[in-house]
Amino acid sequence: MREVAPTQGRETYDAPRGLSSETREAGCDGFVAPRAARSQSGDPAEPGGAPGALRTALRRLPCRPVSEASPPGIDKAAGKIQAMFSRIAPRYDLLNRLLSGGTDVAWRKEAARLLAPLPGEVHLDLCSGTGDLALAVSRLAGGRARVVAADFTFEMLAIGQAKFRRRGFPIPEAGADGLRLPFPDATFDGATAAFGVRNFEDLDRGLRELCRVLRPGGRLVVLEFTPEPTGPFAPFVRFHVRTLVPLLGRIVSRDGSAYQYLPDSVGRWPAPAALSERMRSAGFATVDVQLLSFGIAAAHVARKGAP
Ligand SMILES: C[S@@+](CC[C@H](N)C(=O)[O-])C[C@H]1O[C@@H](n2cnc3c(N)ncnc32)[C@H](O)[C@@H]1O
Repeated sequence: MREVAPTQGRETYDAPRGLSSETREAGCDGFVAPRAARSQSGDPAEPGGAPGALRTALRRLPCRPVSEASPPGIDKAAGKIQAMFSRIAPRYDLLNRLLSGGTDVAWRKEAARLLAPLPGEVHLDLCSGTGDLALAVSRLAGGRARVVAADFTFEMLAIGQAKFRRRGFPIPEAGADGLRLPFPDATFDGATAAFGVRNFEDLDRGLRELCRVLRPGGRLVVLEFTPEPTGPFAPFVRFHVRTLVPLLGRIVSRDGSAYQYLPDSVGRWPAPAALSERMRSAGFATVDVQLLSFGIAAAHVARKGAP
């Protein structure tokens, strides 16, 4: 295992198996070195500075064959998704807290608990965005498990990077497309993805990639909204998601389309049983579902089988 970097000048941080400490030619298979490693060499990946190599790498993502079409009815082309998240990045955390009344924090905590990171393990938080789930996993493990935060939107990662630094967590970031993960097979003991895989242009391919980078027996926790919440609060939840979220989202983020995309994409999203089936088809041996907050969201806990 190669050493990646002393983080914030205090600890030595080992690279997850198969991860390089050097910035390679980025693009479809580019792993971008953690910023802590880069900042040592005077790279502008410092607070307030633009992580230049990361930005360049992410601009070059994605490089997909044109045949990978978005699901019918909603455009999930990677460029559109990236552009949308880069626009809303500055207000993403604020809107999360506002629109969920803080419940999103509890959901991520629960996802981390379900992952159950053990000391010495290496975990991937894919679609990490501004890094809240990566932080929850790291925190739960008392900093003794290593977490890599990966995403393909520079502006989201940049906010996460500043947050990790402020809170003193040595979490390296990777510019990575979930449909072509730049990690070798069986790199991670576990993986998480919160509110991310719903944006994939090709969900099955993304799930297969997540399975591929897990070691046999490795686990995955996918946290997502459910398309049709049931129970006594269902009408209120529907009103909230279909009417209030786009309205408040438009006012606060000043982006008309991004928060309309949320109910649109959730409405077309597979129900937990169907998503579980897709996860099994992608190679996971078992999938268990835990409904959260009266079924507004669901945590899907999957385990990769032995070879
Ligand atoms: C709704 S945000 C979720 C962020 C974070 N996981 C959270 O819980 O707040 C979705 C994130 O998924 C990322 N994403 C979507 N499609 C992706 C892909 N194909 N590869 C990598 N990241 C992707 C977006 O850039 C965005 O940061």
